Amino acid sequence: MRNKILEELYKNREDYISGETLAVNLGISRTAVWKHINILKKEGYSIKTAPGKGYRLSEMKDKLLPGEIGSSIHNNIIGKRIIYFDSIDSTNNYIKKKAGQLKNGTVVLAEEQVSGRGRRGKEWISPKGTGIWMSLILKPDIPPREGIKMTQIAAVAVCGSIRKLTGLDALIKWPNDIVINGKKVCGILTEMAGELNEINYVVIGIGINANMEHFPEEVGKKATSLFIEGGKKVDRKELLVDILENFEIMYNNYTLHLNLNEVLPMIKAYSAVLGKNIRIIQGKSEKMGRAVDINDDGLLLVEKEDGNRELISSGEVSIRGERGYI
Ligand code: BTN
Repeated sequence: MRNKILEELYKNREDYISGETLAVNLGISRTAVWKHINILKKEGYSIKTAPGKGYRLSEMKDKLLPGEIGSSIHNNIIGKRIIYFDSIDSTNNYIKKKAGQLKNGTVVLAEEQVSGRGRRGKEWISPKGTGIWMSLILKPDIPPREGIKMTQIAAVAVCGSIRKLTGLDALIKWPNDIVINGKKVCGILTEMAGELNEINYVVIGIGINANMEHFPEEVGKKATSLFIEGGKKVDRKELLVDILENFEIMYNNYTLHLNLNEVLPMIKAYSAVLGKNIRIIQGKSEKMGRAVDINDDGLLLVEKEDGNRELISSGEVSIRGERGYI
């Protein structure tokens, strides 16, 4: 309901809208409207109240407001429902806690995460208002082993949208990092819950360093932002909408045919690792080799130093560059 109120406020942002009109349009009481408005204010929305006139959403520049995002993609499944937080521990955690109640395709967004999580238990720095910190929940009717492909679809969607909207040479560091000039600009954390033969849900958490101006020294050796690379602030809403639209098309195609045929050419074309000497870290073991191909299932084919070839299904990859492995 709060998202609906936000959408109404957003549509009427040029003027005040009375509590009564909101109540009639949404089929709830005026007291309910008032309660929801107070919660929205606590969540960080700037809503002006004027006696006799009603409510008005003040301009909230560069906020990822669901009303604005939802009105751009309301025909889609992914992003049809958006849950927004000014601050949260982690959008992935939120989905995992509420998974039973959330509909397929719900997107959870936050301006800030105070306990953002990366892969392998790492922290994901998610400062306020500068990045895109989002998670989506999918409930596909596919076998669990197919789950890994979802990450690759997300990576292609993010990479394609970044390239389109910023012109930057974004690449995918298999399987799920997006890098620009050898530094990470986006990470994807996919988590799955299910039985042996059935997926209950998949959470795809996407963190994009959009407009950060700098990073702590140590982090800045490996991480960058779209602003640092392109010298221009990006419109987070525009990027977010483009990613969701891109993802929806590829995801629908994937669930229909259960193959990556349509995205594989892009997975390969955007690959930062193909043809490169790499180091693969899997748990405590490390392997060196050359990335020679990505197969139809999205697995990485590596030629090891002894000439044997091996298919890799997961792991952290570092690429050998001029300054060692990055
Ligand atoms: C990684 O590269 O290690 C994955 C980073 C994933 C970060 C995103 S931000 C939104 C979502 N919520 C989290 O706590 N993590 C993911």
